[in-house]
Amino acid sequence: MQRIAVIPGDGIGREVTAAAHTVLDAVAARHRLDLAYDEFDWSCERYTTEGAMMPPDGVDRLRPYDAILLGAVGWPGVPDHVSLWGLLIPIRRAFRQYVNLRPIRTFAGVASPLRDAASVDFVVVRENVEGEYSEIGGRLNRGFPDEFAVQESVFTRTGVTRIVDYALELARARRGYLTSATKSNGIVHTLVFWDEVVAERAAQTPDVRWDAEHIDALAAKLVLQPQRFDVIVASNLFGDILSDLAAAVAGSIGIAPSANLDPTRTHPSMFEPVHGSAPDIAGQGVANPVGAVWSAAMMLDHLGHPAAAADVQAAIEACLADPGTRTRDLGGTADTAGVVRALVAHLGG
Ligand code: NAI
Ligand code: MG
Repeated sequence: MQRIAVIPGDGIGREVTAAAHTVLDAVAARHRLDLAYDEFDWSCERYTTEGAMMPPDGVDRLRPYDAILLGAVGWPGVPDHVSLWGLLIPIRRAFRQYVNLRPIRTFAGVASPLRDAASVDFVVVRENVEGEYSEIGGRLNRGFPDEFAVQESVFTRTGVTRIVDYALELARARRGYLTSATKSNGIVHTLVFWDEVVAERAAQTPDVRWDAEHIDALAAKLVLQPQRFDVIVASNLFGDILSDLAAAVAGSIGIAPSANLDPTRTHPSMFEPVHGSAPDIAGQGVANPVGAVWSAAMMLDHLGHPAAAADVQAAIEACLADPGTRTRDLGGTADTAGVVRALVAHLGG
């Protein structure tokens, strides 16, 4: 048996994790998978009543699980840095989920804002535990004219090496092409170091072609020529921005999945859609569940069930191709429940 911790979180996070759970039950029946679930109500709602997003021993309670499936956290009234640093970031860091993996691809039936976005298929590999999102820094002279804030970026040889190695390995298994996002012309300590480590590691992997692009030019190329990319490796901040941009290029934030991985498998990895809690549509039953369902497929893959993951992917493709089983954000007419019914039917449930 494999045990999965489910954290629905806030807003549409709850609707899309329920949807993913139903689809997982259907594919588990078909492939005879033994998956067990426990649900945790950690959320902004909990913060409002109990003063914390999760209990003090929250991370320890998740430790025994094989994987974590998360919806979204964040709600008006609770500052976003509180919800993020009170739940998601502690989990990513305590479980050394140093890879944030975000696949981007176009689908028949999902219109991209680009004129020519056929056959876009790449993966952003974002460094997930160090870099620009560090806790090192501070503020001084608050309220005075000379008030200032400093926040240090932290790039370690261990941290850069392992993310680059992961990206090289992934590129080798795909089309053999790696792009490193940098800005070493302007940021002359950390990103020059990043470039050096990328070059060293790439030299050990001669069957992967690679190049480095400055982040500004890379952002433009993602819009102008998204087809040319295979695997993009980026620091925490650059990867965060690039993957949202890339998800928009592919057509919708509602379908974009992500995985926070501990590739050493010492700790549980966490799977979550890229989108947030969408307060503007929460409670209406119209959220697109595909981002959460695709994230669940990535979880199946990680748990050693690639055939089940591929079946879920195929069901997603079939649903997206039909306006009757696409949600409104994609110009379709279905609600969340309608998409789930269609996915389950494709899985033979
Ligand atoms: P958002 O992703 O929640 O919403 C942005 C826009 O996209 C909204 O118009 C929303 O209706 C639409 N949208 C998002 N997901 C959708 C789906 N599955 N189906 C249909 N439409 C969808 O981002 P926003 O509004 O910036 O953030 C709302 C809250 O979510 C904030 O508190 C934020 O901090 C939090 N958030 C949490 C994340 C996480 O848990 N990893 C990630 C991003 C935001
Ligand atoms: Mg983001």
